[in-house]
Amino acid sequence: MNFELISRSPEETEQIGRIIGENSKEGDIIALQGTLAAGKTTLTKGIALGLGIEESVTSPTFTLISEYEGRLHLYHMDVYRLDTTEDFLSLGAEELLYGNGVSVLEWSEKIMEILPDDVITIKIETGTEDERHIYFSNWNHEGFKNYSNGQEYKK
Ligand SMILES: Nc1ncnc2c1ncn2[C@@H]1O[C@H](COP(=O)(O)OP(=O)(O)OP(=O)(O)O)[C@@H](O)[C@H]1O
Ligand SMILES: [Mg+2]
Repeated sequence: MNFELISRSPEETEQIGRIIGENSKEGDIIALQGTLAAGKTTLTKGIALGLGIEESVTSPTFTLISEYEGRLHLYHMDVYRLDTTEDFLSLGAEELLYGNGVSVLEWSEKIMEILPDDVITIKIETGTEDERHIYFSNWNHEGFKNYSNGQEYKK
């Protein structure tokens, strides 16, 4: 399913992330897209909370991959600093994607060509001030049916 939500604060983005985490399934790959400071890490902090992870999530810009243990493992990756998809493959990161956890990728735009067709894509676009438009594609789990400002869109 493809739909759009509007967030009006970092707290709301985190709450949306929490719903994602609560409804995620083993093997999910979540490709985050959006410019600098769009809110990708903020959303991921919420995903971690929804997965029952107690450790606080920090940006993996320099570590590239962080792993957390919760209801499911969370692999949080940031490919911003990688130049090519080969760099990603040579890190061995692809193996994690097909492992037994949930993978969340910041700056996934850079490696979309090697991600599977059913990847869950979440694109965050900045609006005025603290407004963010969050576009989901391929989200086929529960969680957002009753979200007040949700709206379906055609891809
Ligand atoms: N509605 C909102 N949702 C998320 N973040 C918001 C929102 N409004 C303002 N912000 C601010 O935008 C910034 C988002 O930072 P965050 O680190 O989550 O972005 P990012 O997309 O991960 O950036 P980067 O590309 O550097 O990794 C924070 O400073 C946050 O306070
Ligand atoms: Mg980030």
